[in-house]
Amino acid sequence: MCLTGLMADTFGVPRPDKVTYYGQVAGSSAGRDYKQQVLAALDLRPGQTVLDVGCGPGTDLADMAEAVTASGSVIGVDVEPAMVEEASRRLADKPWVEVRRGDAHALPVPDASVDRARADRMVQHVADPAGVFAEFRRVLRPGGLACVAEPDWDSLVIDPGDVETNRAFNRFVCSTMVRNATVGRQLARLAHHAQLEVCDVVTAAPVFRDFTLADKILGLSRNAERAIRAGQLDRAAGERWLAELSAGPFLATSVLFMAVVRRT
Ligand SMILES: C[S@@+](CC[C@H](N)C(=O)[O-])C[C@H]1O[C@@H](n2cnc3c(N)ncnc32)[C@H](O)[C@@H]1O
Repeated sequence: MCLTGLMADTFGVPRPDKVTYYGQVAGSSAGRDYKQQVLAALDLRPGQTVLDVGCGPGTDLADMAEAVTASGSVIGVDVEPAMVEEASRRLADKPWVEVRRGDAHALPVPDASVDRARADRMVQHVADPAGVFAEFRRVLRPGGLACVAEPDWDSLVIDPGDVETNRAFNRFVCSTMVRNATVGRQLARLAHHAQLEVCDVVTAAPVFRDFTLADKILGLSRNAERAIRAGQLDRAAGERWLAELSAGPFLATSVLFMAVVRRT
């Protein structure tokens, strides 16, 4: 299976390869920091069963496997066959890790069977976030914890460049590119409605000062081009904005929410 070919989306803009993109996020200092926070919040112990919903290419499975040790078990679930294949390949040397193809709305996991669960930037993509939280409640054992980390794309602030273009860019990303673009701020409410106890909500707001890195992770050029092609951003304003950002000095930040919830 080809994981590196560039494909164009409906706007005719090339999509970055997903495995490479997830690796870039996880390898950045911002990515490492918040993933460490999620791991610490899960408070994993040897012997536990832990579930990673939307595990992607297995980005975080090895860290969880190390924490629960071979006396525990790790289950990765992803809806995309290419992710399941890549995660299975990466974790092949750890037989206590199993990667299953499945949907977060109907997890391939029995009721009350996991001690810990996590989802990292997965809920932003699903059709029914409330249904996904109900699934977390179903699969967690009483007393079990889940940590869900999601961005809020409307919180992206960038300097230099005019504020109106920054806002137009955010409006386009939130209305067209990401299904649940502001789900980060909704996590505590979703957990509450799923009858999960909200233990904590914390935020991370990584600061990017390198345009090239921010462009890769936040999709500035590719989404500005899509917004222009969709008629939601004036071409001259969009190109001027990108030229100013790339000339720098550059700064961008945006809020990522992490909610720690418990099944009582
Ligand atoms: C932004 S990626 C994050 C991957 C991984 N958690 C990481 O941090 O590198 C989101 C992942 O969620 C998966 N996903 C999206 N919708 C899903 C669903 N309904 N059920 C299961 N996985 C889903 C995608 O295939 C993708 O691998």
